[in-house]
Amino acid sequence: MRILGIETSCDETGIAIYDEEQGILAHRLYSQIKVHADYGGVVPELASRDHVRKTLPLIREVLAEANLTPKDLDGVAYTSGPGLIGALLVGCSIGRSLAYGWNIPAVPVHHMEGHLLAPMLEEDVPEFPFVALLVSGGHTQLVRVNGIGEYEMLGESVDDAAGEAFDKTAKLLGLDYPGGPVLAKMAESGTKGRYKFPRPMTDRPGLDFSFSGLKTFAANTINSAKEKGELDEQTHADIAYAFQEAVVDTLAIKCRRALEQCQLNRLVIAGGVSANTELRTKLAVITKKLGGQVYYPRPEFCTDNGAMIAYAGMQRLKAGNFADLSFKATPRWPL
Ligand code: KG4
Ligand code: ZN
Repeated sequence: MRILGIETSCDETGIAIYDEEQGILAHRLYSQIKVHADYGGVVPELASRDHVRKTLPLIREVLAEANLTPKDLDGVAYTSGPGLIGALLVGCSIGRSLAYGWNIPAVPVHHMEGHLLAPMLEEDVPEFPFVALLVSGGHTQLVRVNGIGEYEMLGESVDDAAGEAFDKTAKLLGLDYPGGPVLAKMAESGTKGRYKFPRPMTDRPGLDFSFSGLKTFAANTINSAKEKGELDEQTHADIAYAFQEAVVDTLAIKCRRALEQCQLNRLVIAGGVSANTELRTKLAVITKKLGGQVYYPRPEFCTDNGAMIAYAGMQRLKAGNFADLSFKATPRWPL
């Protein structure tokens, strides 16, 4: 069986074809970063318009690359939530309409389930059950995954997502949106120990997170360095270092706690922040100590992409989980 996957929940148009036996046959990603950079964040209306412009041409491209015609497809999967409503509606309406026209099933997919299953596209696949840390621009969640569709929420952020905290702190440091990866790069030349940021909510039991205080802490640190006339390039790097160290430490402490609580040693990390090298390194150490391993998608499948939607859609298709003729986008949708 083969399925087309369409991702348009935020600021990337991701299209892919997944074959049950051969894996990903073709995938394309168009990022709108340049469209939104001048505004310091995603402008929903501009995002929707760009998805309209890009979705069909990219579908044509993946079909051509995989040397397939629509007749070779068994389903169309599309992200139906959570995300920006206008952006979601583009993928939902195009996906639903194509499936209708091609007379094949339409399969709505939860964006976070896509992220969660993205490591399944790699060679070294984790066995169920495992603990997953989903860290993106919109979500920070710890989930116990017992099987496909069997998700138990262990904890989540009560305010900003980890990626959001990265982006907001990056903005305070004068970096363009989305500043997460640039802040991480900047932190490489930072000095360990010059600044110490808090590890929010780690001194009490539970698996929830809170990251909005770190952004405020960064703002105060930047202001006080400015007042002292110390806000040079090195200070920027030192603040980036301390901020990243705090986020990574906090995520790692909660991951270890979740693994111990579930008595598991397999950890999956997915979502944009899972591309962070420091986070990967730290989690590799922790899982190794527990006799297990950390699993993550290749870099291009950490952030939003069509491949993860095609894969999750295939699992739903096999389970007979189709959409009716309506097309529904769900901007807020718990996993
Ligand atoms: O999963 P994703 O592409 O989109 C959402 O669904 O939100 O995640 C994007 C987020 C952004 O906040 C971005 O700054 C962050 O992931 N990100 C990183 C890194 N690469 C991407 N944060 C820290 N370090 C990175 N290397
Ligand atoms: Zn995402």
